[in-house]
Amino acid sequence: MEAKTCIKTRRSVRKYTDELVSKETVREIVELASYSPSWKNTQVIRYILVENEKLIAQIADEGLMNFPLNVKTVSRAKQLMIITKKDGISGYEKDGSFSTSKEENWEMFDAGIATQTFCLAAWEKGVGTVILGVFDDKKVGEIVGIPEGQTVAAIVVLGYPAFAPDMPPRKSVEDLLTFK
Ligand SMILES: Cc1cc2nc3c(=O)[nH]c(=O)nc-3n(C[C@H](O)[C@H](O)[C@H](O)COP(=O)(O)O)c2cc1C
Repeated sequence: MEAKTCIKTRRSVRKYTDELVSKETVREIVELASYSPSWKNTQVIRYILVENEKLIAQIADEGLMNFPLNVKTVSRAKQLMIITKKDGISGYEKDGSFSTSKEENWEMFDAGIATQTFCLAAWEKGVGTVILGVFDDKKVGEIVGIPEGQTVAAIVVLGYPAFAPDMPPRKSVEDLLTFK
């Protein structure tokens, strides 16, 4: 698939078929996501694939701040990618001070880049995704048992789309771009 087509046709998918994405395909997607740029090439983003039905149900029940749309999406999902960040590295100097006035924000910036790369790499293989931002990061981290010193940055639901969602409207280039 051409990069342009992949970028334009990727959609947030909230309903999937019962077919599981194979571990080999997930490995290939993460391998592609590893090419994402990161702060000083610190590569602090990690990926935890959750397929255990009980864990997914527990995340739906306790980890999503009871946000109905996400509870529905996760309750019927078979695979979740928990995207974590190693804390205190990206955007920090070696002595632990912040490198810039954006302070710790570069960590989530790196996570965002890696997550979008993951989603595009997935879509190139026909695998649909949706990024979930409404969740309780501490609770989800506890349920999944993420390593010490990491924080959950995003949940990405993945699978083969049950149908092709419509594209929500986009702003025009005129609205987005200014030349000076
Ligand atoms: C940071 C971020 C957080 C998001 N959080 C949620 C969420 O909690 N639940 C959800 O269903 N979609 C979520 N989305 C998906 C957006 O709603 C979606 O990307 C947007 O409506 C555009 O649709 P599209 O991805 O199909 O182009 C999130 C997307 C991003 C980038």
